[in-house]
Parts: sequence; C-alpha cells; structure tokens
Amino acid sequence: MYVCLCHAVTDHEIRAAVHLGADSLEAIGEHLGVGTRCGCCRETAAQLISDCRSCPAAHGSARAAAS
Ligand code: FES
Repeated sequence: MYVCLCHAVTDHEIRAAVHLGADSLEAIGEHLGVGTRCGCCRETAAQLISDCRSCPAAHGSARAAAS
C-alpha cells in the first residue's frame, strides 16, 4: 500500500530501506522523501519503522549480508 502519497512510496519500499539500515524517520525521509512534503505520512511511517525494528530475522539477515 502507498504510505506517502506525495512521493508515491509504499510500505514495501519503507521496509526494504529500514532493513538496509535507514532505520529512522529522518533517514527514510532522506532516502525516499517520506514525510518531507505535507507530513501526513509521518505517523504511519514511524509505526512501520518501529515494526521493522522488532523484526530481528529480517533486520538481522540484512545486516549480516551487509557485513
Ligand atoms: S504523504 Fe508523505 S509527505 Fe505527504
């Protein structure tokens, strides 16, 4: 689903970015533009980031692949 309509960013794109290390709203905004225009998506994006942080399997495997 689209989370950020201003920048046409989906939940999948946000999750992928978090798993690659962009694990803050500021980092997601920098990489994808999320929350940098109207700001309506910021709360949903923050919740997605939080959910991803508590997903050790996906987060751990991305970090392991990066090292
Ligand atoms: S919906 Fe994301 S900045 Fe507007």
